Amino acid sequence: MFKTDLLAGRTILITGGGTGLGRAMALRLAGLGAKLFVAGRREGPLTETCQTIRKAGGTAASATCDVRDFGAVEKMIEAAEQAVGRVDTLVNNAAGNFIARTEKLSPNAFRAVTGIVLDGTFHCTLALGRKWIAAAQPGNILNIVTSYAASGSGSGFVVPSACAKAGVLALTRSLAVEWARHRIRVNAIAPGPFPTEGAWSRLMPSAEYEKRAKDSHPMKRFGRQEELADLAAFLLSEQAGYINGECVVIDGGLWLKGAGEFNDLADLPDAAWEMLEQARKRSQ
Ligand code: COA
Repeated sequence: MFKTDLLAGRTILITGGGTGLGRAMALRLAGLGAKLFVAGRREGPLTETCQTIRKAGGTAASATCDVRDFGAVEKMIEAAEQAVGRVDTLVNNAAGNFIARTEKLSPNAFRAVTGIVLDGTFHCTLALGRKWIAAAQPGNILNIVTSYAASGSGSGFVVPSACAKAGVLALTRSLAVEWARHRIRVNAIAPGPFPTEGAWSRLMPSAEYEKRAKDSHPMKRFGRQEELADLAAFLLSEQAGYINGECVVIDGGLWLKGAGEFNDLADLPDAAWEMLEQARKRSQ
């Protein structure tokens, strides 16, 4: 779908780039010619991601960083500039989430998630945005939110995440306008269910629940990491240069299924449809 040099000349910083969707995006974007800098809390996965990129002929470096700490974010960006040069693109992917009954949460648990997702996204955005504006250089930001933020519904049992991601979406749309005059584009991707070790271990309570989630999905499957990485590549590319402040949902139609009043009729067997149709003909 893409030319292999689609992102040549670009330098991309991905938070949470050592594992899961962050890693998948890092590998894909590096494969399209971008230099990558991956940040995260654990050194092991970051090193592994960089090695994989380098083995494939790409350029990558990393630093550990807790995005909740603005000072640490500023240091991490300095390290990135030394290692791979001026960063022109930021993917705010680092996230934290877990399922819990809200009445059981401590204020610290709420802050643990909002600190990573909302504060962390703001910290990286602010630190790089300031640099880009001061140097009068363009920039590109992609925020990873979630389908329950894009739909506006939020979601029970992940309330800290729902609040934080709603904030990130507001940040995306607000800054897209405010910083357009500085040639900084800000967009978001809202993924539905994408199996990753990090997300599944925290959000999928049992194998039985997973099967039910898949069976009730309109496409009867979860997302593939490469599908999300390709969407990121497109939104970050010059070809998407007029897309700004947009949030693209990638969930196979899952949130719409919940929204349409009659969508559960997909489960109605053909025999039941035929009976309904016969009854309608008889009453005409
Ligand atoms: N249910 C309820 N409370 C929980 C919890 C859970 N499953 N997991 C953690 N908490 C609470 C802790 O009890 C603690 O509160 P307390 O101090 O009042 O007891 C608070 O959250 C912070 O926990 P801690 O483990 O110290 O925080 P951390 O900063 O090390 O971890 C998390 C942050 C909790 C978000 C952790 O899940 C994480 O690091 N996640 C990153 C990766 C991830 O979530 N990936 C999936 C993205 S979809």
